[in-house]
Amino acid sequence: MQKPQTKPRISNFSSGPCAKRPGYDVAQLDVSSLGRSHRSALGKKLLGACCTETARILGLPAGYRVAVVPASDTGAVEMVMWSMLGARGVDMLAWESFGSGWVTDVVKQLKLPNARKLEAGYGEIVDFSQVNFDNDVVFTWNGTTSGVRVPNGDWIPDDRKGLTICDATSAVFAMDMPWEKLDVITYSWQKVLGGEGAHGMLILGPRAVERLESYSPPWPLPKIFRMTSGGKLTEGLFKGETINTPSMLCVADYLDALKWCESVGGVQGTIARSQANLKVLENFVAAQPWVSFLAKTPETRSNTSVCLLLDLPEDKVKALVKLLESEGVAYDIGAYKDAPAGIRIWCGATVETSDLEALVPWLTWGYEQVK
Ligand SMILES: Cc1ncc(COP(=O)(O)O)c(C=O)c1O
Repeated sequence: MQKPQTKPRISNFSSGPCAKRPGYDVAQLDVSSLGRSHRSALGKKLLGACCTETARILGLPAGYRVAVVPASDTGAVEMVMWSMLGARGVDMLAWESFGSGWVTDVVKQLKLPNARKLEAGYGEIVDFSQVNFDNDVVFTWNGTTSGVRVPNGDWIPDDRKGLTICDATSAVFAMDMPWEKLDVITYSWQKVLGGEGAHGMLILGPRAVERLESYSPPWPLPKIFRMTSGGKLTEGLFKGETINTPSMLCVADYLDALKWCESVGGVQGTIARSQANLKVLENFVAAQPWVSFLAKTPETRSNTSVCLLLDLPEDKVKALVKLLESEGVAYDIGAYKDAPAGIRIWCGATVETSDLEALVPWLTWGYEQVK
């Protein structure tokens, strides 16, 4: 095969931080808040808008609250686990490395006695019929490192007793989320919307708030995790009064990303962009015998972090990744360090379908060079 002529216009296919939105220009951000206090009227207005605009654009049900919290998605998940777990048993679901990290926290750090682990290997997903909803349930909507996603929320009963706590960092804005089935949802800015790292987004449904107001864990809670004061929810946190100082530059960047989301048709628009991107890779995999999805079944195939296995030994996969990087056609497409050797191509909304179309001939060309 001849070397392809066309390169992707933007070759950023990392699974986080992800490509900035099409047309992004840092110079166009509204930076009027830089150098001002985040507690000033202006600072609070912008931080408040991060919460209210997120709720509006995502179409959250009435009674769902949104906060900006420290330490990215990890911070949001940790503050929830430390604040809410222990009131009942907990089912920990994991099928790749981030989900496994939450299992470790609950079993080895919090040492919860009534923790059940439901685990599956890379490419597979757990058997949802085994989940006990009398317990709290912690799971990842999209396993970023295996490209295996929850297909839908049908397995979650409306009359559950426990809370559903969902790490949806590589799903929100790219997948239809059944909000009413989820009591806690977390994500971060640097994934589907191509925002900046550092801040976490925490969405709480009414049942999660009820837990916070009726239960205090027996262990100490650092200030950075605290969401209540005197047994009552700190409502200000959900209006932009952050626990500690955020980056107002990242806030400006996130508000810009939300505006872009609206300009492409809101969340249905970003979902459609991501699905069109997956389609390019599905067509590619269907046509090439040497590449397959790590996800075992099409319903669990992620439309954001698409993980592919190649018919190549690990060293040759690495050589391919390096070659495509040196050609300037694909950055950061190596599989996650703990995942099976392969490649991972981000197909979230900020990636242009035309860039994936330009990329796939390079994958074939690269494969032929290294094999
Ligand atoms: C499923 C999942 N959970 C958690 C994280 C950690 O996110 P953050 O770096 O935003 O804390 C990631 C990062 O890629 C992830 O993919």
